[in-house]
Formats: sequence, C-alpha cells, structure tokens
Amino acid sequence: DLPTTFDKPVHIAVIGGTGLGQLEGYEPIAVLNPITPWGPPASPISILSHNGTYIAFLARHGLHHQFAPHEVPNRASIAALRHIGVRCVIAFTAVGSLREEIKPMDFVVPHQVIDRTKGIRPFTFFEGGVVGHVGFADPFDAGLAQVVKKCAEHLDGEGVVLHEKGTVICMEGPMFSTRAESHMYRSWGGDVINMSTLPEAKLAREAELAYQSICMATDYDCWHSFEDVNVEMVGKYMRANSQNAKRLVGAVLDQLSKLEHSDLVMAKHLEGYAQGGLKFM
Ligand code: ADE
Repeated sequence: DLPTTFDKPVHIAVIGGTGLGQLEGYEPIAVLNPITPWGPPASPISILSHNGTYIAFLARHGLHHQFAPHEVPNRASIAALRHIGVRCVIAFTAVGSLREEIKPMDFVVPHQVIDRTKGIRPFTFFEGGVVGHVGFADPFDAGLAQVVKKCAEHLDGEGVVLHEKGTVICMEGPMFSTRAESHMYRSWGGDVINMSTLPEAKLAREAELAYQSICMATDYDCWHSFEDVNVEMVGKYMRANSQNAKRLVGAVLDQLSKLEHSDLVMAKHLEGYAQGGLKFM
C-alpha cells in the first residue's frame, strides 16, 4: 500500500543479486514501477529512507528470481534508475572463486572485468541513430571502491573478509564453466567468475552512473579439489553469509548517505561520458 510515486531525486541505488533479494532494516517509503523505452525494470524499485536520504533498491533477477542471467532486462533497469535520479550504484553479486586465497564467503571489490558473455544480451544504449563510444578501461568506480574498502576495514574481526581488488570473468551461462574453461580463466588472470556483471556495468557507464560491484564468493567453480560448483552450493554459502553481506552493504549505504552531496555520490567526475544526447525515458 506504499505510494507508487516519489518526487525527490534518489541518488544512491543498490542492485541486489542472488541472496540479496531485499534490504531489511530500512524503511520503505515508496515502490515505483517505471516503464522505460526498454520495458519495465527487473523489479519494482523500492525507495528506502535512510539517515535522511533515499536509497533505491532493485532486485536484478526479479522479485521472484524469474530472470536467468541472460534474461535480465539490464537496459530497462539501468534506464529506470537513471530516470529517478540515481548517480551511483552498488551492485551485489555471487561469484565463483578462481583463487585459493579467495575462500567461499569472502568478499571481493573488483577493479577489472573480462567479457565472456556471447553477444546475445542487449549491451548498449548507443544504437538506432544514437552513436557514442565511451571509455571502459576502468569499468568500476575507484571512489566507490574506496568507500567499500573502508567500510570493510571496520567490519574486519566481525567475520567480514574482503579482497581489495580482483578481475571478474563475466561468462554467459546459464550453465557453469567446463573444467578446461575454469583453468583457462585462471591463466588469464581471472580472480572470480559470475554471470551478471556485464552488460550491467557497461550500461551504467553509458548512463553516466558511478558503478561498483561487491562480489561474494560462494564456491571454487570447478578448477579446485573442492566440490564442483552447483546451485545448492551457491545458495548454501549465500544464506550462510547473508548477515555479513547485509552488514557490509549497510555500512556502505551509511557512508554514502553521509556523502549525499559530494562529487562521489553525484558522479560529477563521470560527466561527459554519454555524448549522444541520450534520453533515458
Ligand atoms: N556464480 C556463483 N558461482 C559461479 C560460478 N562458479 N560460475 C559462474 N557464476 C557463478
């Protein structure tokens, strides 16, 4: 019965992945169902009130986890967030670990990504007469990464283990990798693997949103002597660590809401990326 409109800009968003389908402990004050030129976003957008600021929450796979990774309506989700005023996005994802030292339940703040999606997902806003090329050398936002690292330091000793950088391999799925692929990704320098970071991060960049993923390891994929990844394993570790995930995301939101008027939250440093006169609604 919450209002379905909200007239103040919301600058901060969380995209929740598998295992982070909602943010508890925040007061929802509106639920928006925007329609974009790319259709409706993956889920209604909950507006949460926090420390006198507002946070948007969107469930990447839908409220009922109905979208497989290759079916997620990324353009609609990113356009909808942009439309309500969002300037920075914390994107949460479950990942497989490609490194011994990244243990299941550890967190990783990635700084790089390798695209192993297969071109079947709509991956750009720049088409149909809107031509643009934006830089993607550093796909994540260093300022947001800094905030996440600082927050994790404070939670160190409370069971939150965080690796301060890493390369994500984003594969197509929905099947997991073969053993040969898993070893190949390790030889490429991949640290973790998922199915969700792209094209989400590319579209966020085109939409001039500062974007940073927080990855949570749920398995050792299939290169390790540990049991090969399966869905039950991912779910089990996700649930086992959901309290830590919520604490970490909560600490990051506390910090970002304090920075509400800073360049970081306003993503002013990104201005000029989208050059094609993009309209997001
Ligand atoms: N998400 C969680 N674990 C994964 C894995 N091993 N491969 C791809 N995506 C994943």
